[in-house]
Amino acid sequence: MIDFKHQVAEALKNNIDGMEINDIIGMIEIPPNSEMGDFAFPCFKLAKTMRKAPNLIAADIAENMEKIAIFEKVESKGGYVNFFMDKKAVAESVLNEVNDKGEKYGGSDIGGGKKVIVEYSSPNIAKPFHIGHIRSTVIGNAIYKIYNFLGYDTVRINHLGDYGTQFGKMIVAYRKWGRKEDVEKEPIRTLLGLYVKFHEEAEAHPELEDEAREVFRLLESGSAEEVELWKWFREESLKEFTRVYDMLGISFDSYAGESFYSDKMDRITDMMTEKGLLQKSEGAEIVDLSEYDMSPALIRKKDGSTLYITRDIAAAVYRKEHYNFDKNIYVVAAQQNLHFQQWFKIIELMGFDWAEQCVHVNFGLVSLDDGTMSTRKGKVVFLEDVLNRAVEKTAEIIRDKNFGKDDLDEISKQVGIGAVVFNELSNNRIKDYVFSWDKVLNFEGETGPYVQYTHARACSVLRNAKVELSKNVNFEYLTGESAYELIKLIARFPESVVDAAEKYEPSIVTRHIVDVAQGFNKFYHDEHIIVENEEEQKAKLLLVDAARQTLENGLKLLGMAAPERM
Ligand code: ARG
Repeated sequence: MIDFKHQVAEALKNNIDGMEINDIIGMIEIPPNSEMGDFAFPCFKLAKTMRKAPNLIAADIAENMEKIAIFEKVESKGGYVNFFMDKKAVAESVLNEVNDKGEKYGGSDIGGGKKVIVEYSSPNIAKPFHIGHIRSTVIGNAIYKIYNFLGYDTVRINHLGDYGTQFGKMIVAYRKWGRKEDVEKEPIRTLLGLYVKFHEEAEAHPELEDEAREVFRLLESGSAEEVELWKWFREESLKEFTRVYDMLGISFDSYAGESFYSDKMDRITDMMTEKGLLQKSEGAEIVDLSEYDMSPALIRKKDGSTLYITRDIAAAVYRKEHYNFDKNIYVVAAQQNLHFQQWFKIIELMGFDWAEQCVHVNFGLVSLDDGTMSTRKGKVVFLEDVLNRAVEKTAEIIRDKNFGKDDLDEISKQVGIGAVVFNELSNNRIKDYVFSWDKVLNFEGETGPYVQYTHARACSVLRNAKVELSKNVNFEYLTGESAYELIKLIARFPESVVDAAEKYEPSIVTRHIVDVAQGFNKFYHDEHIIVENEEEQKAKLLLVDAARQTLENGLKLLGMAAPERM
């Protein structure tokens, strides 16, 4: 695709003394509406060095701009030079590019040879996989896909919370009150119930706590019976998680969770000792971080057991040695900001210069509009239930569209689950948000169903066409206002993908495909596509197909399906 911005910058460079091309590119803006051109160059900063009023500079540049074929016109207005591209040339360049690249349109190989780890989801074993977990799971998956699309060598890791003293409690509780068949039938609910019962009983019988500590010690030292039970709990829980991952179409390259690092901990604490980082404090070992305005990090407890943070440090060292990453991304809630700041600093103090390759991609809280999200009141909303409900509700909405039973089931899944995913990726990730069914499943608003529906509409136009799709078209037919606006939105899709990767912000892609969908619907509304004139029809179909392709690629990047009928 012709780099239009670059063309504008080149033309400007010939008219401005002493400015580097990249600085010019950095200053070029996209005007808020097309009446002001496709690109604009502000002259305010030049006023000082040139000792001339910005509007005069702009006027001079516009006037001196020699006739360049790719510009329809160049004018100056209030201190800006406005560039209007030749619409036909833009249409030809953009649509040929989309047609050539197909499913790869928007991707690139800028990440070639670079390894990126994306850690996401990471739920805790034997704890509910609830609606709160959707954020890390879905945002992480989209970030992984975006990096992959840009040619990075990606590794997906699920850092399962499968370790810690709570497993001592769970084993004790299971031995006292548990039943095998209950765990097999409903592992998480059963284990959670046992865990709750343990705490109730321990109030009257505090000796249970000692028992649990002893059992955890046995587990840590590799005692066969305890290890077997723990493994079983882990497997059963994982089965339940996997059911949800399958619904979401999500998978991982590694499930190395916290337990994986249990035998790699001594080496880490030794390294810290060697660097003089560890201090004794009431029998425990800590790293003092007061110099960096942070509370101390507890690395090893009095009884010698390690903690969540110790395991994170061990995991990062392992990942560097094992994968040699260029970037190590953690998609974890903002509630853990301090935790990540602390251990990123510790890694740095340990002398690892790759500390700066570790990134905490944080996000805000999700709550439900009917207030059912307070785990404390025991009202846990399971993610699986939310997804199932989304599918059911979608089936109700599209039932009367005379689909066969199989199609109805499949499309309800794609749209229902897609709606939840899209909703999750619609806002800036750091914002807290309220989950509302009305918003999620609205087919009219800026939602997943709306974008999917637009994609299906484009597919339907292509199905109903009377001529073959072809690249050899007369682009003159695509210079109307809404066609041209749509083409420009399609052209900017690759930039959005790069921007989303750089900012770890999938919502940039989400918002972009909403714009493309709206642009398509405007074009669809303003112009007749299946027209008598075959030449015209052919040109318009090429645009319809490019919009369809862009929507499909965008939806897939977000982890959604792009159904062809809805
Ligand atoms: N299991 C943790 C939780 O549910 C999240 C783990 C995040 N990842 C990490 N490397 N600390 O809160």
